[in-house]
Amino acid sequence: MRKKPNLQKRLALCSGIMPGDAAGFLGKWKESFGFDKICIEIGCGKGRFITETAKINKDILFVGIEREQGALVMAAEKALRDEIKNVVFLDTDAKNLGDIFDEGEIDGIYLNFSDPWPRKKQAKRRLTHGDFLAIYDKILCEDGFVFFKTDNRGLFEFSLNSMSEYGLKLRNITFDLAASGLDNIVTEYESRFMDIGMNIYRVEGYKSQRGISVEKPAQAV
Ligand SMILES: C[S@@+](CC[C@H](N)C(=O)[O-])C[C@H]1O[C@@H](n2cnc3c(N)ncnc32)[C@H](O)[C@@H]1O
Repeated sequence: MRKKPNLQKRLALCSGIMPGDAAGFLGKWKESFGFDKICIEIGCGKGRFITETAKINKDILFVGIEREQGALVMAAEKALRDEIKNVVFLDTDAKNLGDIFDEGEIDGIYLNFSDPWPRKKQAKRRLTHGDFLAIYDKILCEDGFVFFKTDNRGLFEFSLNSMSEYGLKLRNITFDLAASGLDNIVTEYESRFMDIGMNIYRVEGYKSQRGISVEKPAQAV
């Protein structure tokens, strides 16, 4: 992503929804923000998915995680423009999540169009690699979920294996999200792929057989 003009100034204007000392909230996110449930999106990009999902699930706090500040600032500006009260953003890498959220503190995780890292030796960087799943497992509550969608068939196959080997219960697997009839909130990347007729792959992974702890699971949470 190209360098954004006035980036630091724009980030400062969004500071109200970008807590600086995220680790200071460890174990206290729910009481600090006044929500019973928290979902996070890792690699939220410019924020279309998380802001639209937050709008229709006002009783859940959504936390957008993004390590690219140029994208993150656009996501935060979108949330401020739309006056969304149940979303905050963290400028951090997914590998730090265990220092930010306590065990079982999170209800659900969204991974949308994660970078594929196609070379074998890059596999550990994939956000569905077992090393990341171990972090998610720790911060997810007993009924927690990981929802993943991508346009990349290779990454999808890798992720199905990785999630299932890790012990997540996989449901609603689809190789054609548009034809599946599942609820869907489209991301920025996704809209580009849909425009050129590409299939979108999606899977839901659950920690327990019981399912999830939020009422409207699918893409609309
Ligand atoms: C291909 S983009 C998809 C953006 C958005 N989810 C969408 O669908 O439009 C992947 C995003 O994930 C972010 N990302 C990749 N690895 C990450 C990590 N380890 N921690 C935080 N963000 C990450 C990238 O900076 C990038 O913005």
